[in-house]
Amino acid sequence: MKVLIAYYSETGNTEKIAKAIHEVASQNHESYLKRVNKVKVEDLFNSDLVFLGSACHDSNLAKPILRILKKIPISPNFKLAGFYTHSTYPPEKNKSLFEKWAGECSKTFEKLEREKEINFKGCFRCQGAPSPPIEMFIHKTIITDEEEWVEYLEEVKKHPNKLDLENAKKFAQDILN
Ligand SMILES: Cc1cc2nc3c(=O)[nH]c(=O)nc-3n(C[C@H](O)[C@H](O)[C@H](O)COP(=O)(O)O)c2cc1C
Repeated sequence: MKVLIAYYSETGNTEKIAKAIHEVASQNHESYLKRVNKVKVEDLFNSDLVFLGSACHDSNLAKPILRILKKIPISPNFKLAGFYTHSTYPPEKNKSLFEKWAGECSKTFEKLEREKEINFKGCFRCQGAPSPPIEMFIHKTIITDEEEWVEYLEEVKKHPNKLDLENAKKFAQDILN
């Protein structure tokens, strides 16, 4: 099977997930790992399965990913899986903050499944350490309580961690099987 892993990553978190998925996919398949700016919409359709990944920006997938998704025509034979990293809390820890600051990412993929009738295989997500300006923004506007902030920052800076990478590999393996 020809597999394409295309991703948008500014600070390397999403790239780590993309590489983990590529590692699994390349074991038994012809797998290509590419930054999304090197991918044309036609490339998506030359693959049997596409993993498309993004950093979460402004509560949704990043603009370069939204742009390529917009170009996808109605295509029931197109097999797509999504992945993204975000800095806000995971839903298990704080559902409402997750929904507000990262919830649109999964919804965008699900909307695509409905509107473009694609064969959507599901979505993987995990936390990713924020860059210094984003860290400052979160502290100023989202997590202002000092005690909570210290705990949040200590944890988020570890991600994506070993377990996240293992979970990403398992997600990919299940789809590839
Ligand atoms: C411009 C910008 C906007 C961001 N907006 C959000 C956001 O709305 N919600 C969130 O959870 N994280 C947000 N983040 C944090 C990133 O999603 C997070 O750090 C991610 O892991 C970065 O992935 P990357 O290292 O692959 O670029 C933002 C980061 C940047 C640079």
